[in-house]
Amino acid sequence: SALPYANGEIHMGHVLEHVQTDIWVRQMRMFGHEVLSFCADDAHGAPIMMKAEELGVNPEEFIPPVKKAHIASLKKFGVTYTNYHSTHSEENEQLSNEVYLAAKEAGYIYKEEIEQCFDQDKQMFLADRYVTGECPKCSAQNQYGDGCDSCGVTYSATELVNPKSTLTGSTPTHKISEHVFFNLEKSKDLLKQFLKTAQMQKPIVSKLSEWLDGDLKSWDISRDEPYFGFSIPEENNKYFYVWVDAPIGYLASATNWAEKNHTNLQNLWGKDSEYEIHHFIGKDITYFHGLFWPALLENSLYKLPDSIHVHGFVTVNGEKMSKSKGNFITADQFADECDPEFLRYFFASKLNSKIEDLDL
Ligand code: 2FM
Ligand code: ZN
Repeated sequence: SALPYANGEIHMGHVLEHVQTDIWVRQMRMFGHEVLSFCADDAHGAPIMMKAEELGVNPEEFIPPVKKAHIASLKKFGVTYTNYHSTHSEENEQLSNEVYLAAKEAGYIYKEEIEQCFDQDKQMFLADRYVTGECPKCSAQNQYGDGCDSCGVTYSATELVNPKSTLTGSTPTHKISEHVFFNLEKSKDLLKQFLKTAQMQKPIVSKLSEWLDGDLKSWDISRDEPYFGFSIPEENNKYFYVWVDAPIGYLASATNWAEKNHTNLQNLWGKDSEYEIHHFIGKDITYFHGLFWPALLENSLYKLPDSIHVHGFVTVNGEKMSKSKGNFITADQFADECDPEFLRYFFASKLNSKIEDLDL
């Protein structure tokens, strides 16, 4: 299952995904297959760093209790993994370096200067979600730095009119910095092949081929300080963007288990491994798992996914769950009110191969 972020509780959306995975795992075991199930907390990135800062603790201190709580919440819903690890782990740092350096060696990595919004008060580059302003096209107010909710246009945060940092309310300046890029175009042949061989639902294959038919934008895989993550080898003060070491966290969780169980990652995940790799994810992270992840793996020692199982969102009375709307239901809240088995049954009865949202 996709790795839950270490800055929030397990909620209904997670429960759907982990229950789906768990049902599949149990079924495959009943069929006589050996199944190892791996998950982990996705512990890096700016939001987690900021949440820890808000609470006045180091991110390193902040993340372990969150992981413990995640495991406990999932357990209430009958979900356990062969191994549940963290992306903030030695195994993951080693593997991230290994996978990155293999891509670099193969010529997939280059550097380029880019201009970004910079918060002078916080001395920090601002990710798209930390800048709001007016849409440069339709002038809608309060739009985020990546695109306009109102007219649908995409732009870069530096193009917003009257921009504000959501962190300090100050007006961001523009600052140039060198970033590390992954040349996704170079993986195009591999990705086309992947689309033909991997087992995925039809709409996912269509969506991925649509992306593949266009130009694949290079992927900005570095972040500047301050950032909670792994530093990029052979670079100064550059960190891997959280979405690099997150999927590598799948490998790290498997390694962590393998080392305690007399096997190794090559055996589980090597290019010639007899195990199949199945991912269970939500539709919003299809691009990461269907394009970036196979591309990252191309030059590594590890095999590509055999299958990606994609589900829709959980909605509440037809609306997306959100804390501000007050319709956000956590796993623990549900379990306090109601037998978790009911929800497992409900999800099981509603899930199908389509990528439909599932309404509570
Ligand atoms: O979207 C999310 O919640 C991410 N934390 C999922 C990461 S999945 C994997 F790539 F690590
Ligand atoms: Zn607009």
